[in-house]
Amino acid sequence: MAQVPELSKPTTWKGIAEIAGVPLSADTVDNWSQIQTFKAKPDDLLICTYPKSGTTWIQEIVDMIEQNGDVEKCQRALIQHRHPFIEWARPPQPSGVDKANEMPSPRTLKSHLPAQLLPPSFWTSNCKFIYVARNAKDCMVSYYHFYRMSQVLPDPGTWDEYFEVFINGKVNWGSWFDHVRGWWEIRDRHQILFLFYEDMKRDPKHEIQKVMQFMGKNLDEKILDKIVQETSFEKMKENPMTNRSTVPKSILDQSISPFMRKGTVGDWKNHFTVAQNERFDELYREKMKGTSINFCMKL
Ligand code: A3P
Repeated sequence: MAQVPELSKPTTWKGIAEIAGVPLSADTVDNWSQIQTFKAKPDDLLICTYPKSGTTWIQEIVDMIEQNGDVEKCQRALIQHRHPFIEWARPPQPSGVDKANEMPSPRTLKSHLPAQLLPPSFWTSNCKFIYVARNAKDCMVSYYHFYRMSQVLPDPGTWDEYFEVFINGKVNWGSWFDHVRGWWEIRDRHQILFLFYEDMKRDPKHEIQKVMQFMGKNLDEKILDKIVQETSFEKMKENPMTNRSTVPKSILDQSISPFMRKGTVGDWKNHFTVAQNERFDELYREKMKGTSINFCMKL
């Protein structure tokens, strides 16, 4: 495999390119025509999330189900290599699309793209999607710490500075509101299993059972219990195949903040000021007006 180039940490929010107003890495934008012409297949399963919503968690759950609960099979590769990341690009390494094209079917793929930017073939292929949404405030906090530890994303600055960037949808992959709302509104038009991080925390067995049924698998109770156990935060934090500990420090500096950070619901309460919370709630009401999603219920 080609060496990952050393990148110096950008110091401003500039340098991130945009597609239709959605900030994305410049490499992704440069590779946009390959991404948009990607050919999805009917037996593909696409895991899609807004960043920091529990992507790695659902990936491990799906893989454990695919491998019938065989832990060793799930250890075959790092989680980020098991499921091609459709919009990922960092030349000269093979892009996410290159990796997906090489992968035998049935394929499980990953994306953070908002629904309107997904390669159109996904909508016509009749494939399946799993979307995981996490409450906006915890996503914002988790993303802040990820920006701090990532050496290839811009410096987020202080919490207060970052707060403005996030609520204005200027972080990579854009506005949480538009992303979640966009996927929520089309959930009945395609084969989309729409899950919530908070439900997965509250009753992992129940949510894993839903995933299993959606994937057309029928694993026995013992295997199901094993999957619940093996995909717990504690287990995944210790698992080098899921905790990103093999990613070079020049890309993810886990001495600043671990990738598997807290894995809890409600950490936003340790970050938001009272004024920020009030402002955020008002914005939430405005942006999510008319949708039936109510994340406040899940906090
Ligand atoms: P925190 O930063 O709040 O701890 P993603 O995989 O989309 O980047 O999401 C990362 C977030 O999911 C992190 O949140 C991480 O700790 C959490 N996470 C990962 N695996 C988890 C698990 N098994 N259970 C609960 N949370 C998990």
